[in-house]
Amino acid sequence: MNINIITLFPEIFDVFETGIISKAIKQKILLLNIFDIRKNSINKHFHVDSKPYGGGEGMVMMAEPIVKTLLQIKNLKKNSVIYLSPQGKKIDQKKVVDLSKLKNITLICGRYEGIDQRVIDKYVDEELSIGDFVLSGGEYAALCLIDAISRHIPGTLGNKHSYMKDTFSNGLLKGSVYTKPEIFEEMSVPKVLLSGNHKKIEEWRANNSLKQTFLRRPDLLNNVKLTKKQKKLLEEWASKDIL
Ligand SMILES: C[S@@+](CC[C@H](N)C(=O)[O-])C[C@H]1O[C@@H](n2cnc3c(N)ncnc32)[C@H](O)[C@@H]1O
Repeated sequence: MNINIITLFPEIFDVFETGIISKAIKQKILLLNIFDIRKNSINKHFHVDSKPYGGGEGMVMMAEPIVKTLLQIKNLKKNSVIYLSPQGKKIDQKKVVDLSKLKNITLICGRYEGIDQRVIDKYVDEELSIGDFVLSGGEYAALCLIDAISRHIPGTLGNKHSYMKDTFSNGLLKGSVYTKPEIFEEMSVPKVLLSGNHKKIEEWRANNSLKQTFLRRPDLLNNVKLTKKQKKLLEEWASKDIL
């Protein structure tokens, strides 16, 4: 997969020199091409922003440097061009999986008060947000999005099954996990996890995942097809105080 990043701060993406993404890049499973907008500034002072028409606070990123940068991308028409923006549609796990199936995406990272609307109108396929809060730059949203997408690109994760059991993959939160030691500050690991009985362990994990979802994100349960057994458990938990 090819991800083009259009930014004023290329160095922010140096974080991908470590961790699983760096491995994916080395193996050429993932190609990150970073384009510095400032190199396409239109005056000798390297300005890329200007005051908003109509007045008001802050500065707006000018259209021309961004478009000049976009046009440097080979086969731009084959790319899905995304502007990361708090006004965009909120990204969820389904969107991440859909994006991971694309060959080429281009991410535009805004700064200041955002980018000139005419870039969005003519060149952007979709605006995406990572949540209902405002960041100081689209780069941080791009980092999150690229990291989430990369988990779904075959070959990136050591264990190809790990993302399949991630939170949201079946619509529920993943349940609690434990590791050594068996007793930590007088708290024990649930006995069933030490039993070696795989069927019972799977059953405990499934119920625990359902319980965590019921307690923390009951809204998610509206979009999941539940079995009779799961419905019964939910009724049971709802009828008593299980906290
Ligand atoms: C300081 S913000 C601009 C906020 C703008 N004044 C507003 O109120 O919508 C600068 C840039 O950060 C990025 N950004 C901020 N919040 C974001 C979010 N929740 N998701 C994705 N990108 C975001 C966008 O690229 C935006 O152009």
